Amino acid sequence: MSLPRRPLASLALLVLVTSPVVAQQGPPDSLVNVQVIPRDTPVQQVIDQMAGFTRALGVRCTHCHVGSEGMSIWEYDFVSDEKPAKRKAREMMRMVQAINGEYLTRLADLDAEGLDVTCMTCHRGVRLPQPLADILLRAHADGGIAGMDSAYAALRTRYYGQAAYDFSELTLDRVGEVLLRRGPRADALHAYQRNVELFGTSAFVRRQLAAAQLEVGDTTAAIAAYRDALAVNPRDRQSRRALEALGATP
Ligand code: HEC
Ligand code: HEC
Repeated sequence: MSLPRRPLASLALLVLVTSPVVAQQGPPDSLVNVQVIPRDTPVQQVIDQMAGFTRALGVRCTHCHVGSEGMSIWEYDFVSDEKPAKRKAREMMRMVQAINGEYLTRLADLDAEGLDVTCMTCHRGVRLPQPLADILLRAHADGGIAGMDSAYAALRTRYYGQAAYDFSELTLDRVGEVLLRRGPRADALHAYQRNVELFGTSAFVRRQLAAAQLEVGDTTAAIAAYRDALAVNPRDRQSRRALEALGATP
C-alpha cells in the first residue's frame, strides 16, 4: 500500500490506517536542505552520489545522517545537519568543487582531460585518509611495539589488497626511520626486522636493517644482514660495497 506524503490532504485516509506511525516508504520527493548540490538535481542522482560517499569513506549513511540501523532507511532524517560528519562532508564537497573547478582548470596543459579529484582520491575507502606509517607511529606512541604490531596485523587483515593503505615495504621502512631518530632505537630495529620477516625476497629491507644496525653500533649484526641481502639478490651492489667498506667478505 502506498501512502500519500501530505497527511493534511488525506486526513480521512489516515484515520483508517491502524498503525499510528506512517513510515516513509521510498526516497524523498524533493531536496530540502542542500547547500552545495543544486536544488533541482534529481533525487535519485543525489542518492547515487551519497552511495559514492559511503564507499569512498567506508561508512554507512548513519555516519552523516540521523537514523538507526533498525529502521527503514527512508525514515532517516536526511534533512538534519545535527551530525558533525555531515557538516564536514559539506565542506569537503566545496573543497572538491574548488580543486576541480578553480585549480585544475587553471593548469595550462592538463595531462588527463576529465581526470577529476573525487572523495576516493584522498579517502580510498577510509574515514580518515591517513598514511599507514602515521597510524603505526601513533599506535606505537600509545602502546609500544606490541600496540604497533597488533595495529599493523589488524589493518592488514582488513584492508590488504584494497587502495586504503600501503602495505609495501616502504611503510615499515618509514616507521623504522622515524623511530631511529625519535627512539627507542630498539623499537626502530624491531620495525626493520619485521619488514625483513614480511618481505622474504627483498634485498632492500635487509640492507635497510643493516644500515640501522650500523647506526646503533652493532657491526656484527649489520654484516650478517648485508650478507643476507646478497643472498636474496647476489647483484645487490650497495650491500657488496657496504661489506667491502666494513672489511668483510660478501
Ligand atoms: C560523508 C557524509 C554523508 C554520507 C555517508 C551520506 N550523506 Fe547524504 N548528505 C550529506 C551531505 C553533506 C548532504 C547535504 C549536501 C548539500 O548541502 O548540498 C546530504 C544530503 C542528503 C540528502 C538530501 C537531504 C535534503 O536536505 O533534502 C539525502 C536524501 C541523502 N543525503 C541521503 C543519503 C543516503 C541514502 C546515504 C547512504 C547511502 C547518505 N546520504 C550518506 C552527507 C552524507
Ligand atoms: C584532498 C583530499 C580530500 C578529498 C578530495 C576529500 N577529503 Fe574528506 N578529508 C580529508 C582529510 C585530510 C580529512 C581529515 C580532516 C580532519 O582531520 O578532520 C577528511 C575528513 C573528512 C570527513 C570527516 C571524517 C569523519 O570524522 O567523519 C568527512 C565526513 C569527509 N572527509 C568527507 C569527504 C567527502 C564526502 C569527500 C568528497 C566530496 C571528501 N571528503 C573528499 C581529505 C580529503
